[in-house]
Amino acid sequence: MARSAMRGTALGQSPDPRVAVSMTVNGERVEREVSPRMLLSDFIRHELGLTGTHVGCEHGVCGCCTVIIDGKAGRSCLAFAVQADGADIRTIESVAGRDGTLHPVQQAFRECHGLQCGYCTPGFVMSILDYLEDNPDPDLSEEAIREVLSGNLCRCTGYKNIVAAFRRSAELMRGSQ
Ligand code: FES
Ligand code: FES
Repeated sequence: MARSAMRGTALGQSPDPRVAVSMTVNGERVEREVSPRMLLSDFIRHELGLTGTHVGCEHGVCGCCTVIIDGKAGRSCLAFAVQADGADIRTIESVAGRDGTLHPVQQAFRECHGLQCGYCTPGFVMSILDYLEDNPDPDLSEEAIREVLSGNLCRCTGYKNIVAAFRRSAELMRGSQ
């Protein structure tokens, strides 16, 4: 298909309709009117300005865009904003305390040098936080940790320190309960 033929409005077609969505994000109710094809990741970043949720591949592979949707970690690039209507969403911005105190998982990444550029880090933190909230006494073998982390990709660290951060996260979260 010719490139210009794919541009709807350039050919005089109607612009996307707008659809009302409302959801709770980090404890606050938000309401917007959006295109039905707006991704949830774009909604979070562009409509709400919560740019801590990163976008890497935009097709469900890298895990950078992981947020917690109705209590389960999920890839926000694989959902449309309209599909999250009525949902309860947590993003990385909700994780540290209001006074800036790091969450145990964030503290663990800091202590264990579990990041370099940091692009993948919000996704790892949300995935680990969700997993450890559901599994407070996890299998801490290398193999089991790598299995849990297999949905998130990092281009920098070689994973060794992220595995260490997972172990330290489990320790710190047990201590904080
Ligand atoms: S940006 Fe969503 S999985 Fe990569
Ligand atoms: S720290 Fe750079 S991609 Fe993971």
